[in-house]
Amino acid sequence: MARCRWRWRRVLLCLCCAPCVLVGSLCVYITLAVCYGTTTTTGPGSAAPIPQTLPEFFIASGLTRNGSLAPHPTSSFWDPKPHGGALWNLLQLHIDRHYNPILMPKSSKEHNDIDTSNNNNNNNNNNTNYLRFSLPTLSAGFSEIGNLTSQMEDFQELPLQMQMFVRSMHFRDYPVLIEPANLCGRGLRKGQGLLLLLAIKTQGLNFENRQAIRQTWGWAGWVAGATGKGGVVRRVFLLGKNHAEPRVNVSELLQLESRHYGDILQWDFHDSFFNLTLKDVLLWDWLSAHCPLARFIFKGDDDVLVQTPALLDYLREQTIQSGGPGSEGMKGFMVGDVIGAAIPNRVNFTKYFIPASFYKGLYPPYGGGGGVVYSGELALRLNRISRRIHLYPIDDVYVGMCLHRLGVQPIHHPAFLTFDFPEKEGEERCAYHTILLVHKRSPAQVMKLWSEIMRNQTECSNTILRMEEKNTSDRSVV
Ligand SMILES: *[C@@H]1O[C@H](CO)[C@@H](O)[C@H](O)[C@H]1NC(C)=O
Ligand SMILES: *[C@@H]1O[C@H](CO)[C@@H](O)[C@H](O)[C@H]1NC(C)=O
Ligand SMILES: *[C@@H]1O[C@H](CO)[C@@H](O)[C@H](O)[C@H]1NC(C)=O
Ligand SMILES: *[C@@H]1O[C@H](CO)[C@@H](O)[C@H](O)[C@H]1NC(C)=O
Ligand SMILES: *[C@@H]1O[C@H](CO)[C@@H](O)[C@H](O)[C@H]1NC(C)=O
Ligand SMILES: *[C@@H]1O[C@H](CO)[C@@H](O)[C@H](O)[C@H]1NC(C)=O
Ligand SMILES: *[C@@H]1O[C@H](CO)[C@@H](O)[C@H](O)[C@H]1NC(C)=O
Ligand SMILES: *[C@@H]1O[C@H](CO)[C@@H](O)[C@H](O)[C@H]1NC(C)=O
Repeated sequence: MARCRWRWRRVLLCLCCAPCVLVGSLCVYITLAVCYGTTTTTGPGSAAPIPQTLPEFFIASGLTRNGSLAPHPTSSFWDPKPHGGALWNLLQLHIDRHYNPILMPKSSKEHNDIDTSNNNNNNNNNNTNYLRFSLPTLSAGFSEIGNLTSQMEDFQELPLQMQMFVRSMHFRDYPVLIEPANLCGRGLRKGQGLLLLLAIKTQGLNFENRQAIRQTWGWAGWVAGATGKGGVVRRVFLLGKNHAEPRVNVSELLQLESRHYGDILQWDFHDSFFNLTLKDVLLWDWLSAHCPLARFIFKGDDDVLVQTPALLDYLREQTIQSGGPGSEGMKGFMVGDVIGAAIPNRVNFTKYFIPASFYKGLYPPYGGGGGVVYSGELALRLNRISRRIHLYPIDDVYVGMCLHRLGVQPIHHPAFLTFDFPEKEGEERCAYHTILLVHKRSPAQVMKLWSEIMRNQTECSNTILRMEEKNTSDRSVV
């Protein structure tokens, strides 16, 4: 009898314990899932998503000339204080928590649809109103993290441009000063879409560069392909505002230029190297409102030469291969000189210097800033996702961060020579017919090379685009 009672007690005990054990396991599982969710989304540089086949390690522009490779960083997935408290990573962690599907199922549900009200629902398209960024989470991050400058222990010792960047990085709502009227509709016949919009970063005083581009590779109108049909091309120059220039009134000249060519898009922010990212986010916003149907966007510098006819052929080919406009492939299409696994530049006297107190981690793959091409559909997606990503001082890296969040892998094409030709190859016959883009050409060189390219068009008509780099380690030398 006593034994029987004892057995009953054991069964009872089991019955009571089983739910506890199950609930315990569930808790552990949820904790793991949440931790995993937050650490994988803390930043493109976070430890988890490093692919197995890492390309050689590449130090971001402006560092060594000796071509040495950096060691792989060792950061732990379990690090309870992510990235040693680097400012950008902390701020981003805050937003990522907000959009974490496990912690905040509601806010993450908005996924692709946040802020579409921006341009569509209220038709306030009067020069200033479509720029209404609503970024409550971005600013919330700031107030929660507290006084930014006191966050960074070495703030006072940082270069001035870094200090300026940190002070204004929560803000991107700069109004348009000059914009083209009807850039994407003007002169287009029915059924004839805009194939390529050339968006070129420039500065007020680079009038010569703009003029050379207008007369050569940036010609607006119907442009024939090298061998194919070609398409409609438009051009727009992206500018901020320069400090007062004592001798000339730049604003006045830009107004004149805009009236004459209708290709100036200027915003009211200080045009500096660390503010270039603003040109990307503001361009995406502007495109969403004024040019949502452009098939492709080129975005690049004003000291490059683009072989537009060959580019048009290439883009038409890619469109067909990926299944036409609107296909999945086109929704995530970006091509350029892709840099695989770069680390921030830590040499404190270079223009590209990023202190460890600001950012820690790897950079995601990104297309070199000399010039990239992406689909109009991708531009609209970038516009939405960029509202969840804090500005980063290096513009091409920032675009890479946005791509990473969208799960888009940019395509590397060896014909984008953002680091110029390998030695002497530029002098070979028809060399310029093998490329889509080459960086660092003066306006005079652009004019001369362009007329040669046109003159040699028939002679070089059988030339194909560059396929593989002869020596990839050359790419780490800037
Ligand atoms: C190359 O430069 C890096 C960074 O300045 C330095 O650490 C390394 O020793 C250099 N390598 C050679 C071979 O000079
Ligand atoms: C733009 O729209 C806002 C709000 O609708 C209005 O207050 C403002 O006067 C408009 N500005 C111009 C220049 O039309
Ligand atoms: C932030 O910190 C700096 C330096 O510690 C201080 O000078 C500044 O007044 C603080 N700003 C605010 C808004 O608290
Ligand atoms: C430049 O010209 C603009 C427009 O005419 C004017 O508003 C501005 O005050 C001028 N700036 C200087 C520094 O003269
Ligand atoms: C960027 O522009 C804003 C607005 O003009 C300015 O306040 C900020 O200091 C600029 N940042 C840099 C790094 O030049
Ligand atoms: C740059 O770093 C070196 C050592 O890494 C240091 O001695 C120097 O003071 C730093 N310069 C500036 C301007 O911070
Ligand atoms: C054009 O052809 C001439 C003669 O064949 C050659 O010397 C020149 O480098 C070529 N230029 C370009 C840009 O292809
Ligand atoms: C690539 O270039 C580096 C120096 O720039 C050289 O040491 C190496 O041997 C080259 N590799 C090949 C395969 O040519």
